[in-house]
Amino acid sequence: MKGSYDTFMRKEIFEQPESLTQTLRGRLVKKSTGPATSDGTGSGFTSVFPLNDLDMDDVPFEVQLGGLNERMSDIRRSNRVIFVACGTSYNSCLAARQTMEELAELPVSVELASDFLDRRCPIYRSDVCVFVSQSGETAETLDALHYARSHHALTVGIVNCVGSSISRLTDCGVHLNAGGEIGVASTKVYTSQVVVIIMMALLLSSDSRSKDARRAEILRGLAQLPSRVEATLAAVDEMMKTTAHKLKDQQSILLFGRGYQYATCLEAALKIKEVSYVHTEGIHAGELKHGPLALVDDKMPVVLFASCDATATRVHNALSQVAARGGLGRMIIVGCDGDAEVMRYKDSATLVLVPQVVDCLQCVLNIVPMQLLSYHLAVARNLNVDQPRNLAKSVTVQ
Ligand code: UD1
Ligand code: BG6
Repeated sequence: MKGSYDTFMRKEIFEQPESLTQTLRGRLVKKSTGPATSDGTGSGFTSVFPLNDLDMDDVPFEVQLGGLNERMSDIRRSNRVIFVACGTSYNSCLAARQTMEELAELPVSVELASDFLDRRCPIYRSDVCVFVSQSGETAETLDALHYARSHHALTVGIVNCVGSSISRLTDCGVHLNAGGEIGVASTKVYTSQVVVIIMMALLLSSDSRSKDARRAEILRGLAQLPSRVEATLAAVDEMMKTTAHKLKDQQSILLFGRGYQYATCLEAALKIKEVSYVHTEGIHAGELKHGPLALVDDKMPVVLFASCDATATRVHNALSQVAARGGLGRMIIVGCDGDAEVMRYKDSATLVLVPQVVDCLQCVLNIVPMQLLSYHLAVARNLNVDQPRNLAKSVTVQ
């Protein structure tokens, strides 16, 4: 049911505070000596989510993913982790890869299921293959799962649909619990996928005392995420509608980002092209001068993700390079509220400001205005938002 919303896509974008709450529910826990709790966290753990911001500083908490419990030591002992997925699910793996590498200290690769199959990628029994899918039925991802099983890898599913093929055929896994998603363009499931992969990374590092402080800041970020997404939705919806009206007759939009935001520009580009049919390219900001800069002139709309993280200086270099080729007038900069570097552009470019959260979760907030931009662009171009031409929600044949 769409309720008061005009489309499922808009409803699902606005559901994200709730879908993220459901993804996290019962999975942020504190160790306790009491009996098993009724919310599924099991003996020895008490759920501490949702919490208010004040409580969070006082409570040392951890991640608990019931579906991985029995295989956690096998995953920790593995030689590498390979994520396999298609479309938006693939982008969610890219978004969380850096955190997985940082916390698990394992080689992590991210594979498009179709390319993984084309290459007959070498897989060994010491590998962990993680299959990420909303439907749990995507043909290429399912075939890749059969392939990994035939090579005796440990298989893990991160799936939204309970009872789906991938959920049933994997050795273990995590359900996203994001609720049903009807719009062909995936929105709320993307943000839940990023969160689950980051929770898996936290769990993999839970034995490492040297990472306690980093884990604590990410855990705090996770607990704050639903309210920060809610604030983002309220702050940017109207602005994205106005921006969509300005962009609706454009033939092309380029999106630049790096670090944690590289996946955001790929996912934003995918979202816009899927529902508005405007040509988009998500480009790593480090690649600008290796080709894409040739496309930049004073007419080309450019979106740049400028978060406050370790890549900030390099992102601002990219911004200057784009600005030098036609000015800031057609640039949309997605940045953090209060970031002085970004505020310098408030009179010359379109600034989209979102709340700041820990670096590795900023991508969850940054994608929200882009989801809204794609929705408003499709509406402004009078297109079918929920069922774009030529696309299907679940692709079960290759
Ligand atoms: C599970 C229950 C949840 C209950 C909680 C209480 C289900 C679907 N979930 O949640 O309703 O509140 O216990 O303890 O019954 N799995 C795979 N592959 C996948 C996804 C999951 O094999 O792709 C397996 C998991 O390894 C696990 C089971 O499915 O054995 C359920 O996974 P999940 O729902 O994530 O577990 P919990 O969060 O513990
Ligand atoms: C289809 C959908 O192409 O499958 C996309 O239109 C989706 O939105 C992709 O990202 C992968 O689907 P799933 O169900 O495996 O996440």
